[in-house]
Amino acid sequence: MRVNLKKAAEILLRGDVVAIPTETVYGLAACLNQPKAIEKIFKIKGRPSNNPLIIHVSHVDGISGLTQSLPNEVYRLAEAFWPGALTLVLPANEKVPLMARAGLPTAAFRIPNHEITHELLKMVGPIVAPSANLSGRPSATKPEHVEEDFGEDLAVLEGGSCQKGVESTILGMSEGQWKVYRQGSIPSEAFAEVLGYIPDVLKLEKDKAPLCPGQLYRHYAPKAKLRVSGEPLDGEVVVGFADRNYSGKKIFILGHSDKPEEVAQNLYAILRQLDQEHIKAAWVDMNFPRYGLWQTIAERLKKAANE
Ligand code: TXA
Ligand code: MG
Repeated sequence: MRVNLKKAAEILLRGDVVAIPTETVYGLAACLNQPKAIEKIFKIKGRPSNNPLIIHVSHVDGISGLTQSLPNEVYRLAEAFWPGALTLVLPANEKVPLMARAGLPTAAFRIPNHEITHELLKMVGPIVAPSANLSGRPSATKPEHVEEDFGEDLAVLEGGSCQKGVESTILGMSEGQWKVYRQGSIPSEAFAEVLGYIPDVLKLEKDKAPLCPGQLYRHYAPKAKLRVSGEPLDGEVVVGFADRNYSGKKIFILGHSDKPEEVAQNLYAILRQLDQEHIKAAWVDMNFPRYGLWQTIAERLKKAANE
């Protein structure tokens, strides 16, 4: 059920769950100080309890009370990228419930750049919110996507289509350097100006606990089988670009091949559309650059294809 700001705040404050819009994707929100609601998020999403949640706040001051003392660099990153699609993994203090951070000594924080949700955060305080999709499914970038996964009973704060369309970029420290724990809406190259270097993308290391638990799980996957190499085969539709010709095959259009922002914005809606149209098999045109936002798009498509 769609709700307005006042109602969303009421539901959160009485200890229940509401889906909220952000500039990246919709989130499934609970107040940080409502353990029952946090438990409910893990349950209805089908999320493993060892996969921690991101804490959303309205102002950087809201983070200092939940973390240990922070290096100056954090404030410089905050200044440059917040509000926005950056999530920082920082050493948490005891005020962050263990359930939200899956027992880790760190917690993930971000200040989203979305007007209504900003108002909501000012009204109710810190909110935990994973992406508002069933675990493993493509994320939700429209209220309809949230309803598709969770039904009409779940309250959804109406906020239109998400402007960025892919999740925030997660940065965390490892061996004295910032690393990209998850590629996202802000390309790695964008951090060079603040950090003095382009942070490496974290790789999942065999036999080692991952620094970002989300790396362990299947993500973004439609029911349709996706193929991200070779050429389109008989019986496959094409997930591709408006300005290319695929010799008469049915196309699901991501956008234009020179507009990565447009492609990111449409990405999850297109993956969801494959299922709405009961498509069984699709070939994805991966013939695009591998820098900037394109890198994130490639990563999402490969994960969606389970590669
Ligand atoms: O754009 C976004 O980030 C969206 C919107 C709603 O803000 N949220 C989102 O949340 O993508 P979720 O739960 O789908 O992904 C959060 C990721 C997971 O991969 C999780 O493992 C990682 O953040 N994470 C959370 N806390 C962490 C921590 N303390 N250390 C390492 N990774 C952490
Ligand atoms: Mg997610």
